[in-house]
Amino acid sequence: MLLLTLPGGAALAAALATQLQCSWSPLVVHRFPDGEQLVRIGCDVQGQRVVLVGSLHQPDAKVLSLLFAADAARELGALSVGLLCPYLAYMRQDMRFQPGDAISSKTFARVLSQAVDFLITVDPHLHRWHDLSQIYSIRTRVVPAAEAIAQWIRGHIESPVLVGPDSESRQWVEQVAALAQAPFFVLNKTRHGDRDVTLDAAPRLLLGSHTPVLVDDIISSGATVLAAGHALRAAGSRPPVCIGVHALFAPELQAALLQAGYTQVVTCDTVPHATNGISMAGPLAAALLEMNSG
Ligand code: R5P
Repeated sequence: MLLLTLPGGAALAAALATQLQCSWSPLVVHRFPDGEQLVRIGCDVQGQRVVLVGSLHQPDAKVLSLLFAADAARELGALSVGLLCPYLAYMRQDMRFQPGDAISSKTFARVLSQAVDFLITVDPHLHRWHDLSQIYSIRTRVVPAAEAIAQWIRGHIESPVLVGPDSESRQWVEQVAALAQAPFFVLNKTRHGDRDVTLDAAPRLLLGSHTPVLVDDIISSGATVLAAGHALRAAGSRPPVCIGVHALFAPELQAALLQAGYTQVVTCDTVPHATNGISMAGPLAAALLEMNSG
């Protein structure tokens, strides 16, 4: 097996290569003055099971590199080409919200399915799609972050109550709560715009003397977790903790969350960020080993 890193994927590829005792090599991406790119594979892929490694946050800048590299690897004799992207982009656009909207998740899935043989990712935003197989025609494997998050909570928070900020989050929060053996509840969110959400009041009774631990899959603009923090504090909660799986984080958000009363902000390392404190390298390595032997 040979790991080829997509832009930004070097740290993850190095961690996986150590666990799997295989080699990795950075993909060379050269930008021409006109903005076009040249992708070069700097090692021999003949007869190798190649895996492209890297998260797909800021996807538009990375997807062409991925497509060019996948084709080049096959032309140069790779046995197979897989994709390990801990964050899978475009999953939230899963319906035509306004007349004329593109359902990007479907198109993105079709493009990736034509380029690679399999895909491994961590907790994709499955909301209206219930399974990746509804839109991806290749083999896919979802690695859940719940066990790693629950382990972090068990080791760091005394008497937690888990909080989901919206109905979509129930699937993750419920699972983490069961593994952490903690109670949980889910708030009700209404989204008015990209950076504008409102949440119903948090239930005082369920907070008790617990430390609220907010768990969401994606933290992007931060509107959701900021509103949740305010709702919890308004209900008289103890200072809350914030956990996200995918740290897409708008600039300055980490400071804003601490100012809003969160005592800790921790994320999984699916998207490189200063808040990364929960490693997914072990479960991802295991999934890769299993997928590549199938
Ligand atoms: C939405 O349904 C997701 O689960 C997240 O709650 C959402 O993407 C967070 O976005 P933001 O940080 O911009 O509120």
